[in-house]
Amino acid sequence: MAGVTDVVFRQLCKEQGADVLTTEFVSADGILHRNERTREYIEFDPALERPLGVQLFGGDPGRLAEAARAVVGWVQPDFIDLNFGCPVNKVVARNGGSSLLRDCPLLERVARAVAEAVAQETGGRTPVTAKIRVGWDERSINAVPVARLLEDCGVARLAVHGRTKAQGYSGEANWDVIAQVAASVRMPVIGNGDITSAHDVKRRRDTAGVAGVMIGRAAMGAPWIFSQAKAFLATGEVPPAPELGERWASILRHCRLAVGRRRHGGESAAMASMRARLMAYTRGMEGGRGLRGQLSHVASVAELEGIAARHLDEHAAGLFGAGSADEGLALTAIRA
Ligand SMILES: Cc1cc2nc3c(=O)[nH]c(=O)nc-3n(C[C@H](O)[C@H](O)[C@H](O)COP(=O)(O)O)c2cc1C
Repeated sequence: MAGVTDVVFRQLCKEQGADVLTTEFVSADGILHRNERTREYIEFDPALERPLGVQLFGGDPGRLAEAARAVVGWVQPDFIDLNFGCPVNKVVARNGGSSLLRDCPLLERVARAVAEAVAQETGGRTPVTAKIRVGWDERSINAVPVARLLEDCGVARLAVHGRTKAQGYSGEANWDVIAQVAASVRMPVIGNGDITSAHDVKRRRDTAGVAGVMIGRAAMGAPWIFSQAKAFLATGEVPPAPELGERWASILRHCRLAVGRRRHGGESAAMASMRARLMAYTRGMEGGRGLRGQLSHVASVAELEGIAARHLDEHAAGLFGAGSADEGLALTAIRA
């Protein structure tokens, strides 16, 4: 997810049990211009993040193929993923992302060019995968023929987000279409859309015929969804979500890691780019509105430590309706 699944967050998800990671989407042109920002997007820690795919977008088969070649040479990802799902107008206007769902001849040329280039460059060792939406709009749902076309072009695995481009992020993901895709191709299909709990993971795996599921937004506020889902699949029990104190400790750790990795702008820039993440982490927390008011201008880790400590104090004092002895201990841990 652009702006979300950077190195730090990917590693946190991996720690929680995410099996496969993908970078934020990266433009083929950015790769070819070798700009430094793009370089940051595709960097990863091989010891901590494999298997990892680098996701590319663009609308020019030749440039995408060249960019894919460059990426496998630079960072040796485990796979190259093609984005045919992004609904953002800036991307669609340049023939990228979901715009290719309404231009299947171009989608075919892109997929074939990249699959051939990567196979040549890596001797067939690095698969090319793709991510699609179910179609451009309600009247043109074409995920099944698109999936068959992509398989024919040499795409090895396919993730399907069950919304149309026209839906953006509204309405619901259509898992019936995802199931139809899974039943129509030989390659593994990964279902995606609206998975928010361990129970959702199991239900979708059991009923949609998919080889796996992809979790996006739910992980932003609750990265432990991966460990909960895995435990549930293995044992039938869902471990409880972390207590408030543990949550703050992991939020603070995320921020410290983000500040530590920031190359430009220092701590205040790193914390500014964490603000949206802090909103996701604190959604549903007691006293949320007041808390989010403070988080909207937090500029340092020390400031966030103060906000966390006050929130835990208020929680322990029962100001939100329910106090718990454990939080006092957690508070000590945070201050340490
Ligand atoms: C902020 C944000 C950025 C995203 N960026 C990407 C991206 O770069 N590549 C991609 O394939 N999907 C991207 N997505 C879409 C998600 O991967 C996913 O398909 C979508 O959110 C539905 O899944 P979910 O309900 O589990 O969130 C993004 C979604 C969000 C909310």
